[in-house]
Amino acid sequence: MTKILEINPDNLYFYENDIKYAAEIIKSGGLVAFPTETVYGLGGDATNPKAAEAIFAAKGRPSDNPLIIHVANPRDAEAYAHTGELYYKLAERFMPGPLTVIMNARESVPLETRGGLSTVAVRCPSNQVARMLIEESGVPIAAPSANISGSPSPTSAKHVIDDLYGKIDVIIDGGDSAFGVESTIVKIEDDSTLTLLRPGSITVDELLCIADVKIADAVTDKLPEGAVALSPGMKYRHYAPKATLVLLDGDYQDIVAYIKQEGLDNTAIITYSDDYDDFCGEFSDSDVYVLGARDNSREQAHHLFSVLRKVDKHNYTKIYAPLPDKSGVGLALYNRMIRAAAHQVIDLRQGRDG
Ligand code: TXA
Ligand code: MG
Repeated sequence: MTKILEINPDNLYFYENDIKYAAEIIKSGGLVAFPTETVYGLGGDATNPKAAEAIFAAKGRPSDNPLIIHVANPRDAEAYAHTGELYYKLAERFMPGPLTVIMNARESVPLETRGGLSTVAVRCPSNQVARMLIEESGVPIAAPSANISGSPSPTSAKHVIDDLYGKIDVIIDGGDSAFGVESTIVKIEDDSTLTLLRPGSITVDELLCIADVKIADAVTDKLPEGAVALSPGMKYRHYAPKATLVLLDGDYQDIVAYIKQEGLDNTAIITYSDDYDDFCGEFSDSDVYVLGARDNSREQAHHLFSVLRKVDKHNYTKIYAPLPDKSGVGLALYNRMIRAAAHQVIDLRQGRDG
């Protein structure tokens, strides 16, 4: 049976016994889903190969897709990774927070946790429930997103319950995730260069203040058949809705005209709050879903996965959504949506902008 612990992060010390209970579960090899500032994680003792195996089994995730290890303090990475000057520069600027850093691993991280790789991904979350849980556990916590492989990442305990209830020991409900998309992942190449493997709330511009940044092809493009992914997660088909998702690149009028011409049979439309009223004038409002304001990609990121989960429940055959802009946090939205859409984009600007 899965135990659900409700914890109010504003009164954390009131819940010390609950956190201690969950930490005991982690120490004894069990699995605890917990809130972080990005998405909910499915945690187990990163130093225990059996716990890593249990995480893969509960998620239905291939065991060659490595897990991020979560530490309570940036310095704790020392015991698990070969850190260096650039790691500490990143840590000083971005940790605790939504950044994951990939470095060469030490033997202390079992191969099961790192999916057989020589490297390890380290992250120090800023969410206080997460940090207290790691501290009480006394071990780093390996945690992928707490969803069934292939469904959108969970941004509330309700999402975790929908996917994993009955399969894990504890679910900590600590409220909605602040950011709503998974952490930015960078790999340290040398003292002054990073490769961006997954965009998130920490943007390329912010990273550029610390180091040179190469963007891995797979962030924006489809990997060619047989190509080796820098991050194993990139080679798997990520969240894919049951319906066909098509991204539309164009203005409001172009999008309305296009959807009308294609027909509205069993179709959902995801749009910006700026266009909601206009869209509801054209289409049935129960089929129109709002992501956030057009120029506020942080707000859109916050809602993305819950909107996708909501839409998925309705068994639509087609979903239209706007193609996100690649700047700032928009790159994270672009990366998640382009993959959910299997790279299907319709360019409605052609011939208009010349
Ligand atoms: O925000 C997040 O990062 C959340 C929360 C729970 O911390 N976690 C998360 O984990 O998104 P997951 O497992 O869903 O995604 C981690 C990604 C996977 O695509 C995996 O392939 C990649 O990180 N990864 C992990 N270790 C790696 C390594 N050593 N080298 C390259 N990629 C790695
Ligand atoms: Mg995931």
